[in-house]
Amino acid sequence: MARPSSRYVCQACAAAFPRWEGQCRSCGAWNTLVETALPRASRRAQRPAASPLAPGEPVALRDIAPGSAPRLSIGIGELDRVLGGGIVAGSLVLLAGEPGVGKSTLALEAAAAIASVSDRPALYVSGEESPGQLQLRAERLGLLAGPPGERLQVLGSTDVEAVAEAARRLSPAILIVDSIQSLTADDLEGPAGSVGQVRGSAQRLLELAKGEGIPIVLVGHVTKDGSVAGPKTLEHVVDVVLGLEGEPGGAVRLLRATKNRFGSTEEVGLFEMGGGGLRQLSDPAELFAPPGSVRPPGSATALLLEGSRPLVVEVQALVGGGGYGPPRRAASGIDLDRLSLLTAVLAKRAGVGIGSHDVYVSLAGGLRTREPALDLPLALALASSIRDRPIPADTVAGGEVSLAGELRQIPGLERRLREAARLGYRRAIVAGTGERMVDGLRVVGVPTLRAALEAALETAPSREAAARRPLTAVAVERGRGP
Ligand code: TYD
Ligand code: MG
Repeated sequence: MARPSSRYVCQACAAAFPRWEGQCRSCGAWNTLVETALPRASRRAQRPAASPLAPGEPVALRDIAPGSAPRLSIGIGELDRVLGGGIVAGSLVLLAGEPGVGKSTLALEAAAAIASVSDRPALYVSGEESPGQLQLRAERLGLLAGPPGERLQVLGSTDVEAVAEAARRLSPAILIVDSIQSLTADDLEGPAGSVGQVRGSAQRLLELAKGEGIPIVLVGHVTKDGSVAGPKTLEHVVDVVLGLEGEPGGAVRLLRATKNRFGSTEEVGLFEMGGGGLRQLSDPAELFAPPGSVRPPGSATALLLEGSRPLVVEVQALVGGGGYGPPRRAASGIDLDRLSLLTAVLAKRAGVGIGSHDVYVSLAGGLRTREPALDLPLALALASSIRDRPIPADTVAGGEVSLAGELRQIPGLERRLREAARLGYRRAIVAGTGERMVDGLRVVGVPTLRAALEAALETAPSREAAARRPLTAVAVERGRGP
């Protein structure tokens, strides 16, 4: 009988069993057994020797020869930046994101970019779309003409051994596997996409990457709650985890490294999805609201920092209606829990009661963020909407709001302020005290959300009547509707 190629390992206590069972016989936990591939006999031989020293022999840390892993620049600047300056030979990269966010598009563009500069082909394995569909897409993206058209090889297969075989034969400059959930290994049980298959296939591709020195990009789907078997269980296997994020309706896509063995996880890449595929947004200023435009009530400008990159983004709120039944809350690009919390803090600490109103908020461009600095501009937008008083268009704001209604400092403040100044904004409202100038930008420090509201709404250019009211009138409005 053939040697079994997998066993079932309890994820709670690591006990291993030859067959799947509902309950772990060792620790009693339910539904924790996961099919796990057994190492192949040949695996040891395929591993490249990490060092010329005998295995098992410790070596002084400083005497280790520096890793000679060369980097290959993909030629898409925003992608190279997130990878840490290019993709490392023999590395396994997971490109994760929700369905439809643009993973296949980015992967195809990356393959084409490499194929056009390398003398080796790029191999794109498509287990989801047929080669014909892929060709249509490539045509739309204008990738068929010229060198990429010749050197971009496509394999329609879901069998991991066939993929490995093709890769060994072609020795491509990059291998794209779209998607890891579509692959199966013959010697593993379970359908494509099951934890066992996904892990087993990834393990097999890891051997391929390290053994042949081929950089491999695995495309992996995640759902909104990140629950699908796959990418989550792969994170410790791969060298780099890239997440492509964006709201389905919007055009902006943010590429973020959440794990990177060869670089920082501080960098983010910005793209815009359009008719011709994903376009790089090297200077996001062209996309986000210009400071000169007239802003309606409910609009505020946020000073965000994604990775090490400052982003000045418009946040919009619409507060109104409500009264019957539970109020509606809808958010695009913004965390709903954070919205609820800010609504409560606004009512309790700043006298802006919107608890019974319907609230809709969104971030410009389809951007999605969990940046704490969004608290303040979001709260300002909410207050501006319910008071029907605009925030001056030349004003930006950034700060985390505490439960007590105090403002907290945000990291990288100077970088954010310089970016706002560069874009032509004139005033920034941030946590702190006193005023100072940064490159022509007046930085107004305020200690609390209440003070920030007064500063932001005080100089509203339109609706003079409201703006001319003494500041104490703001306090009197406490708890009242619009
Ligand atoms: P896709 O790369 O297929 O997403 P994923 O692989 O993550 O599921 O992109 C899907 C969406 O992108 C699809 O709804 C159409 C849109 N799109 C464009 O807007 N422009 C384009 O040039 C392409 C190729 C796709
Ligand atoms: Mg796809």
